[in-house]
Amino acid sequence: VSGQNYKRSSSASVLHGSPGDRVELAGWVVRKNHVGGVVFIVLRDGSGYVQLSAKKGVTPQPSFDSIREVTRESAVLVRGTVRADSRAPGGREVSVESFDVVAKAESWPITKTAARSPSFIYDKRHLSIRGPKAIAAMKVRAEVISAAFDYFREKGYWLISAPTFVQAAVEGGATLFEVNYFGKKAYMSQSAQFYEEASLPAFEKVWIFQPAFRAEKSKTTKHLTEFWMIEAEQAFADQDVNMSVQEGLLSAVVRRVLERRQDELRLLGRTLREPGLPLPRITYDQAREMAARKGAGFEWGEDITTEAERAVSLSFDTPFFITDYPLSARSFYHMTYPDRPEVTKSADLIAPEGYGELATGGQRISDYSALLERIASQDLPQESFSWYLELRRYGMPPHSGFGIGVERVTRWVAGLRHIRSASLFPRTVTRLSP
Ligand code: 4AD
Ligand code: MG
Repeated sequence: VSGQNYKRSSSASVLHGSPGDRVELAGWVVRKNHVGGVVFIVLRDGSGYVQLSAKKGVTPQPSFDSIREVTRESAVLVRGTVRADSRAPGGREVSVESFDVVAKAESWPITKTAARSPSFIYDKRHLSIRGPKAIAAMKVRAEVISAAFDYFREKGYWLISAPTFVQAAVEGGATLFEVNYFGKKAYMSQSAQFYEEASLPAFEKVWIFQPAFRAEKSKTTKHLTEFWMIEAEQAFADQDVNMSVQEGLLSAVVRRVLERRQDELRLLGRTLREPGLPLPRITYDQAREMAARKGAGFEWGEDITTEAERAVSLSFDTPFFITDYPLSARSFYHMTYPDRPEVTKSADLIAPEGYGELATGGQRISDYSALLERIASQDLPQESFSWYLELRRYGMPPHSGFGIGVERVTRWVAGLRHIRSASLFPRTVTRLSP
């Protein structure tokens, strides 16, 4: 078969193309079925899936033989003609005229029986990421991220980067990963927030997209030890502005996924609606009462427990904010109300249906002596925060910001049971490979 008559194409273009198109496709064999003298193959490439068919006596014999022998997950090069067929997924199939195996796959180790064990699936994640659900989840994740890039660009935020080797805790010492930095003690960054704050007088509005590290000992469906965080910080902005940026981002993300990743949502069995704005807001005190009514009470001043968060989240069908957290449940940098020094100007953005926390944000202390006092009153090592403190001596206006976990958002948007499915190669307490 002469190559010149065939146009290099993709499975997605075939589904949108016209019958009679002569195409060349490169991809992987997902499935093979024999029906009488016809062999059907589902081919996967980066754009999706397409059905191929080969018929004994019609398809040239050498190609028909290699189709008959090809193994699942082999990489292949196919040439053929697009046909309309209402029985084929997407209404199109490619009638094969030539078929070459580029790289043969051995017998696929992820059998139906083996796949019943989640730990086996994740031990074989380097292979199991080829599964349709894994691919769909990762394509939703990619859309979430690209929507964030567009949202912040449109709103005039500068994208910055920050180090991941750091010297001090942003979110408390309990979840710090320690590294030996040429004989000195260093940590993996929990959050880029302090670097964002330092950047404000230079850029006014900044955002960042990079990994964050938490030595979370707890095995839960929402904790990774390494995850990607989107953080944004803004000068001359109070907590109300901060919440409107968060809800704007979240609705832009959902809208984009609904526009562009319908096939993936369908495959994942997820129905998603764009949330109406503004999002509902309840206070910490109200959340505490709601949780208590559902038998998940906790002491005032404690962080909202996992069960309480779940109970409150289950009462909503749209994302919502919990505002006004006690200072005792928050990191030291939070600003408090002048008339209520035990309550912070902060909020968590919570996903409904039991998914729980997506983001945490708040207004920061911008005054030098107030921050100095806070650091002292919490017995924190002042030298660790010296440059963070010094920012307050050189023109630091009121400012606020937030951090939102990319895998948390992906998990909710895609309706995934476990957060590890929102990461291509997840890192958890028990998983460092592949
Ligand atoms: O709530 P966190 O700890 O807040 C901060 O780090 C702030 N300094 C952010 C800021 O204001 N710039 O983390 C922010 C978000 C959480 O709401 C959650 O979505 C995600 O990061 N996150 C995790 N995601 C997966 N696994 C973990 N262990 C996570 N810890 C936090
Ligand atoms: Mg938080």
